[in-house]
Amino acid sequence: MAILITGGCGYIGSHTCIEMLDAGYDIVVIDNYYNSNPEALKRVKELSGKDFPFYECDIRDADGLRRVFSAHKIDAVIHFAGLKAVGESVAQPLTYFDNNVSGTVVLCGVMAEMGCKRMIFSSSATVYGTGNPSPLKEDMPTGAVTNPYGRTKFMIEGILSDLCTSDPEWSVVLLRYFNPIGAHESGRIGEDPNGIPNNLMPYISQVAIGKLQQLSVFGDDYNTPDGTGVRDYIHVVDLAKGHVCAVDYAIKHTGVEAINLGTGVGYSVLDLVNAFRTVSGVEVPYRIAPRRPGDVDTCYSDPAKAARLLGWKAEKNVEDMCRDSWRWQSQNPQGYK
Ligand code: NAD
Ligand code: WQD
Repeated sequence: MAILITGGCGYIGSHTCIEMLDAGYDIVVIDNYYNSNPEALKRVKELSGKDFPFYECDIRDADGLRRVFSAHKIDAVIHFAGLKAVGESVAQPLTYFDNNVSGTVVLCGVMAEMGCKRMIFSSSATVYGTGNPSPLKEDMPTGAVTNPYGRTKFMIEGILSDLCTSDPEWSVVLLRYFNPIGAHESGRIGEDPNGIPNNLMPYISQVAIGKLQQLSVFGDDYNTPDGTGVRDYIHVVDLAKGHVCAVDYAIKHTGVEAINLGTGVGYSVLDLVNAFRTVSGVEVPYRIAPRRPGDVDTCYSDPAKAARLLGWKAEKNVEDMCRDSWRWQSQNPQGYK
């Protein structure tokens, strides 16, 4: 029994490879290296002490996928491969629809052809859009998204749901991630963004290491306890473990389930800056800047469904997240380069 991991060389994928191997699964990984470095999987092999097949393959390449499925007996797919930069998606929507939506359609077509009908999909809390109060629950309305990236996730959720309706043999888990941060506690793998980071934690770490001068806090006039935006940060290793539970679940069930992966607790931008300073001992200079368009004031999960269906609960706290992000950043100031 082998599990195919698309985008397995990326940030969440590389951590999930380790947890899947630790849980005793055989894995096969594909990635086109668009946003990742081969060094990540080299380190996954070192950390896990296990080898596994890797193919440099784009999910839009049906023949390439057929070769992978023909070479291995794939029982389920964990589908991370996708583009994820919100601002870039606004500038290049067609690139995002082609890569994320068309890519998923091609992948599902080959899976159906090869008789593999189980998928764990990387969705996002972004599908809840604006208008739902936190804590966000899976049965709340989705689709009021604020950018093309979010629309790709909403569209793919719909496509996978329709697929399950058309064929009752399909089993799909739509994992709605909240805000993944942190790194493997070895400090050997972590998030390695290209250029200037868009997301808060990599930005904080790069200010702390001296690569960037100062953090801009986007807005201090939100309706939150300290006026800065509140999010549900989740340790990437907890998130990775959620995928192992989701695979176990998908093997035993059919149909489609959307499941939040979050901690259920919200922290503000300044909470995160303070927690980071406490665990690292390093100051993070910041200034208050205007709000970032498209941001909501508060977004955190109700994680009860994950506990009920998957038996999964986040275990690491915000200090663990900051400590592990800092260890990764300080041990690898240039990322994987
Ligand atoms: P990442 O960019 O680090 O990993 C994605 C991987 O997919 C990369 O290695 C990239 O090279 C690969 N890839 C992209 N397009 C591909 C294609 N067409 N064919 C083959 N490989 C391709 O991103 P991540 O943070 O690990 O995110 C993984 C998934 O989780 C993405 O689908 C993302 O949208 C989703 N997600 C991420 C977050 C987050 O904050 N990181 C939150 C919610 C959802
Ligand atoms: C967190 C908070 C910012 C940067 C994004 C995507 C979402 C999902 C996760 C994939 C907010 C503030 C940030 C900075 C700041 N990705 N901030 N200064 O926006 O919650 O979610 O990543 O699915 O779809 O939208 O995460 O880390 O960008 O921001 O003040 O330099 O930090 O305003 O309040 P976000 P983030």
